Amino acid sequence: MRLSSIDDSRLIRLPLVHNQNGSITAINNSLDVPFDVKRVYYLYDIPNGSNRGGHGHKELEQLIIAASGSFDITLRDGKKEKVYHLNNPSEGLLMPAGLWRDIDNFSSGAICLVLASMTYSEVDYIRDYAEFLAWKKGSKLC
Ligand code: TYD
Repeated sequence: MRLSSIDDSRLIRLPLVHNQNGSITAINNSLDVPFDVKRVYYLYDIPNGSNRGGHGHKELEQLIIAASGSFDITLRDGKKEKVYHLNNPSEGLLMPAGLWRDIDNFSSGAICLVLASMTYSEVDYIRDYAEFLAWKKGSKLC
């Protein structure tokens, strides 16, 4: 996934069932998300001014949803960057592997829900930006 670019990321609309008592969004594996979901996690109780992310993944694909509130996700591929503002629980950001992400500008009470294609593996992370850039250029095997 060294060759992925931010142009491979995109917002997708998720199913929404709404009535006067509220809304439901259900995400069906392989139907509504184009990878096999192996893990679900969520960020919550996020203090004002927090910065999350600050890393890249070599193989992990993710669908990121603002289940409550809002936040910004900045993606970098070593050449370009793009900022997504997520604030809609029936919309998700599909992220291929091989991108750097920073997440900030969390609203009060925001919940960042993540569906992931792999179980947690620290060896899939690149936590140093210079190392990430080198990896994208193929100049260092991580
Ligand atoms: P990290 O992915 O760096 O968080 P973020 O990108 O949201 O800032 O993970 C933070 C810590 O949580 C790190 O010590 C690893 C741990 N963690 C797990 O144990 N399992 C998981 O599925 C995730 C995502 C993180």
